[in-house]
Amino acid sequence: MKHFLSLADLTPAALHDLLDLAAQLKTEWQQSGNRPILAGKALAMLFQKPSLRTRISFEMGMQHLGGHALYISPAEVGLGQRESVADVARVLSGYVDGIMARVFAHNHILELAAHARVPVINGLSDFNHPCQGFSDLFTIREALGSLAGVRLAYVGDGNNVATSLMFGAALAGMHVAVATPPGYEPAAEAVAHARTLGPGSITLYTDPRAAVRGADVIYTDVWASMGQEDQRQARLRIFSPTYQVNADLLAAAGNAQVRVMHCLPAHRGEEITDEVADGAAGAGQSLLWIQAENRMHAQKAILARLLGGL
Ligand code: CP
Ligand code: NVA
Repeated sequence: MKHFLSLADLTPAALHDLLDLAAQLKTEWQQSGNRPILAGKALAMLFQKPSLRTRISFEMGMQHLGGHALYISPAEVGLGQRESVADVARVLSGYVDGIMARVFAHNHILELAAHARVPVINGLSDFNHPCQGFSDLFTIREALGSLAGVRLAYVGDGNNVATSLMFGAALAGMHVAVATPPGYEPAAEAVAHARTLGPGSITLYTDPRAAVRGADVIYTDVWASMGQEDQRQARLRIFSPTYQVNADLLAAAGNAQVRVMHCLPAHRGEEITDEVADGAAGAGQSLLWIQAENRMHAQKAILARLLGGL
């Protein structure tokens, strides 16, 4: 593994190895702290969009592993504007041991990787969010004990997070039911690609109640992603109230143990209700906070593999 750009680049075996490494690093951190396997190593974190989880979890992950992280704000570099993406990649490669980037256009991630001499990690693009998808598989495996055969229902917008979940779930042999309004499905090529990756299955629905039936996990994300702010009002009219993950929808799963996930940030009262997010719906169990924490543990595995040769 040279870069971490998409879960679709992994094999099922590579995914499981990386999950095992994440588990090992999490246990190590909890018991005695991590060994400084990235001592003297630096990660540049290039952001074109805001972030809480991605920024802090990578920064703390590097710190726990003995390395250093540099935050580069959207205004600083002007990726592709002040200077070409390729030149940014070439220059950063002379200073740091890895580049994590959060961008608008996925093409910019691919361009960074094409021109960098150090590993590039995709910290979210308009196409996918592989660190999130990987970390969520880690959380599901931790909560349910295994991944193969797990039924995940994704309700909402067929966005970057949905795409990475489909890729990861297909590799892991999970069954994914995606419920979106017509026209908001994940990209047809991404669905087709996911279906080639592994033994899992992807089924598309427009009815969220049909999608969640028998689900082990119900997952949602915002209806308008970063960069789609101008579509927010139109999307609210289309998605609300049908695609809201609320107590009623949880009941439709027919599984009192159903878990709920959201990558965060959440727009409470829109795609998810307070009672569901906070696990007070009477049915279901919110994994939101452990899910956010696990970003750090999961990404340590990515860093250890790419920058530490583990
Ligand atoms: N889930 C996630 O990536 O959160 P941030 O946008 O805060 O990094
Ligand atoms: N789909 C959301 C995820 C945020 C972590 C976005 O792209 O804004």
